[in-house]
Amino acid sequence: MSNDRHVPVMLQRCLDMLAPALERPGAVVVDCTLGLGGHSEALLQRFPEVRLVALDRDKEALRLSGERLAPYGERATLVHAVYDELPEVLDRLGIPKVDGVLFDLGVSSMQLDEADRGFAYAQDAPLDMRMDQTTGISAAEVLNTYPAGELVRILRAYGEEKQAKRIVSAVVREREKEPFTNSARLVELIRDSLPQAAKRTGGNPAKRTFQALRIEVNRELDSVEKAIPAAVKALAVGGRVAVLSYQSLEDRIVKQVFAAGAATTAPPGLPVVPEKYQPRLQLLTRGAELPTEEEVAENRRAAPARLRGAQRIREDVL
Ligand SMILES: C[S@@+](CC[C@H](N)C(=O)[O-])C[C@H]1O[C@@H](n2cnc3c(N)ncnc32)[C@H](O)[C@@H]1O
Repeated sequence: MSNDRHVPVMLQRCLDMLAPALERPGAVVVDCTLGLGGHSEALLQRFPEVRLVALDRDKEALRLSGERLAPYGERATLVHAVYDELPEVLDRLGIPKVDGVLFDLGVSSMQLDEADRGFAYAQDAPLDMRMDQTTGISAAEVLNTYPAGELVRILRAYGEEKQAKRIVSAVVREREKEPFTNSARLVELIRDSLPQAAKRTGGNPAKRTFQALRIEVNRELDSVEKAIPAAVKALAVGGRVAVLSYQSLEDRIVKQVFAAGAATTAPPGLPVVPEKYQPRLQLLTRGAELPTEEEVAENRRAAPARLRGAQRIREDVL
C-alpha cells in the first residue's frame, strides 16, 4: 500500500476557496465525491457549524467513510447516489439551496489499490472497473461486445490513444478466439500490438486504454456534463463550487460550464444589459490551478490535478 493512499488533493486550496461561502451561518456543503472522506472530514473540521451532505456511487467508499465521519454525528449525511442525481438528493433531504459544492473527480485511491476492482493495469485482476458494483456493465463486457469502430472512438476520445486502431484490431482478433476476462491478457496484448517507438513514450502503454475503458464503463463524462450545471443551479447566491479534475476532457467540460455561467447571454449591441442576461457566476480561478511541486513530490496522484472554482453571484431570473 502506498503511503499517499489517503492524502486529499489540493486540500488547503479547496478549503480556502470554499471558506467565504461556508463561514456563513447555517451553511450546507455537498461533497459530490466522498471517496475515503478526506476532503469531507477536513470540511467538517475547518467549518465547525457546517452541515455536510456527501455522495458516492461506491458502497465500499460509503461504508469506510461512514466509520470515519461517525464522530460528526448528524452534521454529516452520506448518500449512495451518482452526482448527477444531486437535485433529487437535495430534494429528498429538503435542502433547497447549498453554500458549497466540491467535486474531486475520477477514481479513488482505494479503488486503484484494491486489485480485484480491476482499475489497475499493474496487477492481474478481473476487468471490472465499475465504481458502483451493483449496476452497469464491466470493462470486460465493453471490450468483448462493442463494435470495433466504437472501441476506437472510445480509446481515442477518452484515452487520447494514438494507436487506438492498432490496439482495437488486436482486441477484436483475440476476443473472437476467447473473450477477455482479466487485465493481464489485455495489458500483454497492448504491449505486443504497439510499435517499438510508441512503447517508449512514457509509462505503461496500457494506461491510456485503461483510462478510456474506465470512463466508458462509468459514463464519467456524461455524469460530469450533467452534474456541474446541476451543482451551479443548487448554489445559493454567494455559494461556491470547486472542481478537481484529472484529465483534459473533464477539465474542458468544467471550464465550459463555468465560462458559460460567467458570460452575459445578452444579444450583442444592447446599450444596457438587462438583469436576466447578466452572468450567474464569477470565476474564482484564472485558468486552472495546479498543485504545487511540493505536493506532487509528496503525492504523485496529485500530479494531473486541475482545480477550478466559481461563485454564484445572481439568482436565475425566470
Ligand atoms: C478521487 S475520489 C474522491 C476522494 C475524496 N475526495 C477523499 O478525500 O477521499 C472520487 C470518488 O468519486 C466517486 N465517484 C466517481 N464518479 C461518481 C459519480 N458519478 N457519482 C458519485 N460518485 C462518483 C468514486 O466512487 C470515488 O470514490
